[in-house]
Amino acid sequence: AVTRLADYRVPEFLIEKTHLTFELHEGYTDVSSRLTITRNPQSTKADHLVLHGEQLELLSLAIDEQPLDAGGYQITPHNLTIRNVPEQFVLHCKTRIYPEKNTALEGLYRSSGMYCTQCEAEGFRKITYYLDRPDVMSEFETVIIAREGTFSTILSNGNCLSDTVRDGKRIVHWHDPFKKPSYLFALVAGNLVCLEDSFITQSGRQILLQIYTEAKDSDKCHFAMQSLQKAMHWDEQVYGREYDLDRFMIVAVDDFNMGAMENKGLNIFNTSCVLAHPASTTDTAFQRVERVIAHEYFHNWSGNRVTCRDWFQLSLKEGLTVYRDSEFSADMNSRAVKRIEDVSLIRGVQFVEDAGPMAHPVRPDSYMEISNFYTVTIYEKGAEVVRMLANILGPEQYRQATDLYFSHFDGQAVTCDDFVQCMEEVSGRDLCQFRLWYSQAGTPQLHISDSYDADREQYSLTVRQHTPATPGQTEKEALHIPLKVALYGSKGALPLVIDGLARGTETVLDICEAHQTIVFEQVAENPVPSLLRGFSAPVRVFYDYQLTQLRQLILLDSDGFCRWDAMQSLMRIVLSKAIDGEDNLAEQTVLIEVLKQLLADHAAMDAALLACMLDLPGEQYLASLYDKANPPAISWALTQLQYRLAMQLQTELLSCYQALQDNASGLSARAMAARSLRNRALAYLLHIDDEYYRDLAQQQFIQADNMTDQFAALRGLVHAEHAGAAAQEALQAFYRQWQHDALVVNMWFQVQATRPWGNVLQEVQQLLNHEAFDACNPNKLRAVIAAFANQNFAGFHDSSGKAYQFLADQIADIDQRNPQMAARLLAPLTHWHQFIDEHATLMRKALESLSQRELSKDVYEVVSKSLN
Ligand code: ARG
Ligand code: ZN
Repeated sequence: AVTRLADYRVPEFLIEKTHLTFELHEGYTDVSSRLTITRNPQSTKADHLVLHGEQLELLSLAIDEQPLDAGGYQITPHNLTIRNVPEQFVLHCKTRIYPEKNTALEGLYRSSGMYCTQCEAEGFRKITYYLDRPDVMSEFETVIIAREGTFSTILSNGNCLSDTVRDGKRIVHWHDPFKKPSYLFALVAGNLVCLEDSFITQSGRQILLQIYTEAKDSDKCHFAMQSLQKAMHWDEQVYGREYDLDRFMIVAVDDFNMGAMENKGLNIFNTSCVLAHPASTTDTAFQRVERVIAHEYFHNWSGNRVTCRDWFQLSLKEGLTVYRDSEFSADMNSRAVKRIEDVSLIRGVQFVEDAGPMAHPVRPDSYMEISNFYTVTIYEKGAEVVRMLANILGPEQYRQATDLYFSHFDGQAVTCDDFVQCMEEVSGRDLCQFRLWYSQAGTPQLHISDSYDADREQYSLTVRQHTPATPGQTEKEALHIPLKVALYGSKGALPLVIDGLARGTETVLDICEAHQTIVFEQVAENPVPSLLRGFSAPVRVFYDYQLTQLRQLILLDSDGFCRWDAMQSLMRIVLSKAIDGEDNLAEQTVLIEVLKQLLADHAAMDAALLACMLDLPGEQYLASLYDKANPPAISWALTQLQYRLAMQLQTELLSCYQALQDNASGLSARAMAARSLRNRALAYLLHIDDEYYRDLAQQQFIQADNMTDQFAALRGLVHAEHAGAAAQEALQAFYRQWQHDALVVNMWFQVQATRPWGNVLQEVQQLLNHEAFDACNPNKLRAVIAAFANQNFAGFHDSSGKAYQFLADQIADIDQRNPQMAARLLAPLTHWHQFIDEHATLMRKALESLSQRELSKDVYEVVSKSLN
């Protein structure tokens, strides 16, 4: 069954008030609902009520206190239909559910004994019969009843009205004054401890902030609390958004399909996105906590106060909120590095998705299972679309437009189009063509060429745009692409003049045609173009750079992203030649020389940026540059180049490593930057078979006072081909030290699953039998199976095809318990068409073996679209 945007109809009924009572029993939970339902005045008259409901045991049903007998309603696996209902009535419904048997982690389930919920997108229908769609917004009251003494903490959305004990039962009553769709409902009951703090809003209200965890994790919440306070402050300063309820709660749970969930006033987090302590958490993970805490908090306005009309509009809240959290992170840390991380994700994953069978627009037209559409396209490309709008409008108008959006649509469920309309209204610009970014799938390609006329002092750029076909969309139109450029001369950026108008040294070209030429005047020398500055649009740029031009941009460009991008281009040229079996000595020489220069002068630049510039392009990204990529050739070229660079840059890498030793302590941005550069240097050095470097790593492993350094040493040793005994020792010591910390054990799994050499598949299979592995825990599945399939290119694409079949078999098994996770794990197999026939055939074979099985809707959608 396919759901289509074109079939959207307003709801026939509305639910003014939702009153829920949960009786938590060991083994089962009874849910009573009292729903105040009215006909929607905007709808054409329907006389029967169709509610959503799945896997529910109906105990009783009544309308206005009149019990309905079996003839009065009809139940199917997905719906409850009641015929001939009045204009306005109270529906009373009692259902029984089994949270302890809920392994899909959707609806009400138990994680390490604690009750928790995940209702987005369509999980509420597994709790009770309801109009489980985001355009039905209701005021919720929730009563939770449990045996006295069973749980210390019992939570739901909003304010706690009462908490009493009667007849051996604890009864807790919550009320959320803000109308919300069912996907934002949440309930938690468990034995938890709480870190409390507060925040004073810009209007002077004091908000109680609480982070709940299991007692063993109570020392790991301080960073999340600080991040929350920073996020609340930032949203007031940058968007004028103040928190609304008197209390904001966060709960950490072990078993969670995604990162976190923005339930109104009661965010539920995967432990991996909230817990942090310097001894056990890497800098990368600290930054993830800061970002996800902010993301969920920002949803309170972009998502909760203004929500989505239907799930095709998912990017309305996710794209906007990712853009907001990305700007927040850029303000808190290095802006250039944040941009580089965003772009790496877009290029390495989103462009790949766009080129595959699951390609879809930022606002899809249809889906079988909405859970499959929580994608990098909806989230990250969606954020890039909002970023383009923000850049087109400029900071003042963009702020006016978001103010208008939040005030005009407060309390409503709206569309992406409503958002763009606010941008249009404030700026007076026609964004008609720009709207195609929401409806047209695929990655636009810009082919750029240039010419210089010395006599006329004119430099022209010719831009051709083309978007390749995607499934179901063969014809593509020209998009409105903001292309930010600068021109570099021998002494730096040149002043730009177009049509007689001075445009400073950086300007945005509005590319709107399939073919367009821009002429720059008064250009005194043949310049080097700096293109797509700041990654001003999510497109691929093709321009034939000379090596000397790249060198100049790497050393001189004022845009940190562009310096990194020029370095990536240079590395890519070196690698492509190696992959194609061509001589690349000249290119390698330039690369080594420029890296030498940067490393020798490392104190002169942002260490975090230099660290990024040392990274070679990823395998996935390299593969995406080919019509038919050859996986072993790509892995081989990367390994060779890593070794070459390590050998040639030994002196510089080592002195950089040693020089940064003193700066690399504490959690300041400067210390984190120093650690990232230092550990990149160490990773390179470990590719050289030399006891001296292994000793360095072993010392760092033992002496480290923080997880970033300890883990970098472990990873360097395990991933180095010659470390042998040193690597084994470190692995054992690490497990011994951290076996009681689930999140660190996950890193221990991951470092083994991603080792780029040897018979990793066999080891991965052993890890699945390890005492610490748990196939029901999504973080463990991600640490072993997803890490192997997505981050171990050499291991996964082993020519035997065994790893492909292994993944398919695992997915079939996981699908029995957790369809959402199973479908997510499938992604690497869906890209079979990217690879040479030997590999493509084996990947398809694995997919076909899956298609022979009984599959969930989630996995079925991905498998069938991939084989089509
Ligand atoms: N809205 C959440 C976020 O991005 C994602 C939760 C979606 N969960 C799911 N199982 N589909 O912050
Ligand atoms: Zn989100």
